Amino acid sequence: MGLMRQVLGESFGLFRQVKLSRPLGMRVRNASLVRSKAFVNGIWKGAASGEEFAVINPADGEAIGSVPNMNENDALEAVGAAYDSFLQWQETTAKERSHHLRKWFDVLQKNQDELAKIITAESGKPLKEAAGEVAYGNSFIEWFSEEARRIHGEVIDSPIKSKEMIFIRRPIGVTALITPWNFPIAMITRKAGAALAAGCTCVVKPAEDTPLTALALAALAEESGLPAGVFNVVTSGRDNAPLIGKSFCESPLVAGISFTGSTEVGKLLYKMCAKGVKRLSLELGGNAPFIVFKNADIGKAVQGAIASKFRNCGQTCVSANRLFVEEEMYDEFAGKFKEAMKAQLILGNGGDGVSTMGPLINDAQTKKVDGIVQDAVKKGARILLGGKKASSVGDRFFEPTLIADVDPRMLCYNEEIFGPIAVLIKFKNEEEVLRLANHTKRGLAGYFFSNDIAQIWRVAKKLEVGMVGINEGIISSAEAAFGGIKESGLGREGSHYGIEEFTYIKYLCFGNL
Ligand code: SIN
Repeated sequence: MGLMRQVLGESFGLFRQVKLSRPLGMRVRNASLVRSKAFVNGIWKGAASGEEFAVINPADGEAIGSVPNMNENDALEAVGAAYDSFLQWQETTAKERSHHLRKWFDVLQKNQDELAKIITAESGKPLKEAAGEVAYGNSFIEWFSEEARRIHGEVIDSPIKSKEMIFIRRPIGVTALITPWNFPIAMITRKAGAALAAGCTCVVKPAEDTPLTALALAALAEESGLPAGVFNVVTSGRDNAPLIGKSFCESPLVAGISFTGSTEVGKLLYKMCAKGVKRLSLELGGNAPFIVFKNADIGKAVQGAIASKFRNCGQTCVSANRLFVEEEMYDEFAGKFKEAMKAQLILGNGGDGVSTMGPLINDAQTKKVDGIVQDAVKKGARILLGGKKASSVGDRFFEPTLIADVDPRMLCYNEEIFGPIAVLIKFKNEEEVLRLANHTKRGLAGYFFSNDIAQIWRVAKKLEVGMVGINEGIISSAEAAFGGIKESGLGREGSHYGIEEFTYIKYLCFGNL
């Protein structure tokens, strides 16, 4: 106990020795952003057990810091604090909450560069991409500072003269926000911005791989004057994460859970939430079709595919997972796409200012991606580019890979790849591609490139997904309603709909008037 625990890979039976290096705090100008304690009720604190775990830079395997390995009791203490704070926070006016969020946004903006460095260090994404994520992440706090003032009720015409009927919106209460490592800031702000704007308080449980960004967010929340207990962050390693999730689902003080992550974990949370009939918002895995019709602008389609497929090294839920290309255009698209990949994707340590693609997040993910490529080759697919680990760059780097002649028997066709692997599938006509694209349990995002307006409207309506990029590979923004259908999730984040996950409608009936 009290010893620093290296939990990376622990769940796969690996217990790797890590090189200790200069801690990240020494490399970030505003060192107060790099925290080694969790943030509960406005206090920086360790796990009651004293346990910690190391945070690893996936680009070089160096330990860049350590944070508390909290357990379910620590998490429930945070829930209790969030509940006490909720009793006051729900009484604030929309204007007050809006001002609080705006102040948080302002300090987040002031610290953009530092936040980007932290993201690069713990997630491996190149600095420029990390800076883009910070701008994206911060924009949710700005957006919801504005939406806070637009949460309205309704007055309904009563059928009875002596009665008046009103609907008001109320915050649901304490929310537990369980967030992933692929967008260490944006997946927190997209949830927390909406929750706080609605009048809820929250306990954030960031992913084990990227807790430092979450703690930096907490440090800036504190600096901005957000009241204690409104925004809490509990950190834990993989070993404690399942019990923390369970305790959130079972605590009577938690009103709702918002989770972004794998479909498997999402289903578990769904099941566990049934007991307490909790509000649940799930943003789960995708298997996005990316369709190029023969009449498309091929240059735009290639660029759209590069942007969608290789954003964050392919570790994005909305990433193009299956690239369907109409047969007349297949060879030309494959050739141009391969050249664009070679020219634009430079693997390397994200902090070097040159590389455009970083490592995979950890050893388990690297192994999974490697297995997916090998499976495709074994079943007859053709590697057009890459195809193996880029060990000369680092242990967790994978070559940008292009695979042709993929078919539905292959893992890469059915599973969310979450890596820099683009897979090409030839199709004959619109009817066939819609059938193939929709033949999946997932339904998060879909993309297609076409210049035929009638086809655009038909395909946009028929794709079984929650979000569609039409002649566009990047669809995310604070204003957008982000979310899926089928096994890709429940609810919407961002946009004005994001607020709905954190409010309920209360019906007031005034009688004997
Ligand atoms: C995700 O991968 O879940 C998030 C991507 C985005 O917000 O654009």
